[in-house]
Amino acid sequence: MLSPEENEVLCRVGAGTPMGELFRCFWLPAILSSEIEADGSPRRLRLLGEDMVAFRDSDGKVGILDAYCPHKLAPMFYGRNEECGLTCVYHGWKFDTDGACMELGNEPDGEDHKHRVKIRSYPVREIGNLVWIFMGDENNIADFPHLEWAHVDAEKSHVTRWLQRTNWAQGFEGEIDSSHISFLHRSMDNSLRGSAVGTSIAPPGIWDDAPELTLKETDYGFVYGARRRAGENLYYWRMTQCMLPIFNQIANDVFPRSGRCWVPVDDYNVMAFSYVYNADAPITQEQADILETGRSFPPLRDYVATELDDGYVIDTFISKNVRGNDYLIDRDVQTDGTYSGIFGLTNQDRAIQENMRSIPGIGPGKIADRSREYLMTADVPVITFRKIIIKMAMDLADKGIRPKAADDGSLYNVRAISAVTEIETFEELLEIHGAECLGTVTPAMAAE
Ligand code: FES
Ligand SMILES: [Fe+2]
Repeated sequence: MLSPEENEVLCRVGAGTPMGELFRCFWLPAILSSEIEADGSPRRLRLLGEDMVAFRDSDGKVGILDAYCPHKLAPMFYGRNEECGLTCVYHGWKFDTDGACMELGNEPDGEDHKHRVKIRSYPVREIGNLVWIFMGDENNIADFPHLEWAHVDAEKSHVTRWLQRTNWAQGFEGEIDSSHISFLHRSMDNSLRGSAVGTSIAPPGIWDDAPELTLKETDYGFVYGARRRAGENLYYWRMTQCMLPIFNQIANDVFPRSGRCWVPVDDYNVMAFSYVYNADAPITQEQADILETGRSFPPLRDYVATELDDGYVIDTFISKNVRGNDYLIDRDVQTDGTYSGIFGLTNQDRAIQENMRSIPGIGPGKIADRSREYLMTADVPVITFRKIIIKMAMDLADKGIRPKAADDGSLYNVRAISAVTEIETFEELLEIHGAECLGTVTPAMAAE
C-alpha cells in the first residue's frame, strides 16, 4: 500500500510535478510512424498533460507542435498540411516542423514580423516504426534508449498502441504482476490451462497458479524471475525486466520477443504501446494478422477520435470492448470458455484496471486508491517498482539527481527469457543468462 501522498507522487505527471519531471528526462514513444503521411492529416495527441499535434511535412519530416496556434489559440489540428508546413486555417499563420513561423497570412507586413512568432515544437526522432518525443529541457536531451526492438529493421517489428483510461502506473503495474496471468488470462480448457487465452504465454500444460518470485534491482529498474512448477524437478522460469520509467518485456513463446511501453497521456489516461519483434527475421503475415485482428490487441481499424474527460480530443486506437458495454463480457464463455469471459488480453486487463476503486471524487479506475490495498508476496515486483520510481522522482525533485538511464541508453540492452529447466534458483539462472538479463551484452544496434 502507499500513503495518499505517495500515490499522488506516483500518478501525477503534469509539468512541475516530481513524476512529470522524471518523465521529461526520457525519450517517449508518441505515435506510430504509419499514422502520418507526407502532407496528410495531422494527429492530435496529449502526453504528460500537454496537448499537441503531430504531422509529416512535404519532405517527410515529422513535427510535433503545440496543439494551439499562438495567434488566437485556434486548434492547429484543423490546419492545412502543405508545402513544408502546417497552416492554421483561422488566419493563415504557417509553421514548419521546428516551430518557426513561415507566413503570417493575415498580416500586411507579415514578412517583416514572422521571425518574432514561434509555436512550441518538441524534439522528435523516428526510430523503430515510432515517432519519439522529448518533452524536457532541450539543453539536456536524454540519450536515446538502446532497446533492441526499436533498432531492428522496420520489417522485423510490429508496434501498435491504444488508450487505457487509467493513470500510467496502473497499466504498468499489470505488466509486472506475473501471477494474474494464471487467472485473468486463463482458459477454462484444461489442456490450455496456464496459457494466456489464444496466445500461449506459457507452454501448454504448465500449471502452477502461484509462482515464486525473486527480484534483483539494477540501474534500469529491476529484473525478476517467476518460477512455476513444471513437473518432477522441472521449473518454468520467466525472467522479465522492469525498465523504468515505461518499458517492459514479456517472456512469451509465440513471438520471439515482445513487450510494452506505458506513456502517460495525463493523470487519468495512458497510451499503451505494444511491440513484437524478431531479431533475425521479418514479422510474417500470419503473425501480423494475429496482432491486427484483435485477439491480443485492439484491431488497427478501430482508429477513432476520442474525447477525454476534460473535452480534449485525441486520436488513438480504441477497442470496441469498453466500460459502457462491460467489455462485452459473455457469461456463457466465462462458464466454460475463459476465466474472464472477455475477449482479448488487453480487453481483459482494461476491464479490471479501468474499474479499480479510485481515490475519492474522480470516478473508478483513474487513480486507484493504493492506500486501501492489501498486498502480499505475489506483489513484491509492484511494491519494488513503486519504491524505486518514487525515489527516482523525489531524488530528481529534491536533489537534482538525474535517472541513470536518461544519460546512458545502453542500460536498456536487455532481453527477457523464458525456459523450462532443472535450474532451481534465480541466482543460478542469472549466472547463465546474466548477460542477456542484466544488459552486459550489446545487441547490434542499427544506426539511429
Ligand atoms: S488563430 Fe491561428 S492564425 Fe489566427
Ligand atoms: Fe494482463
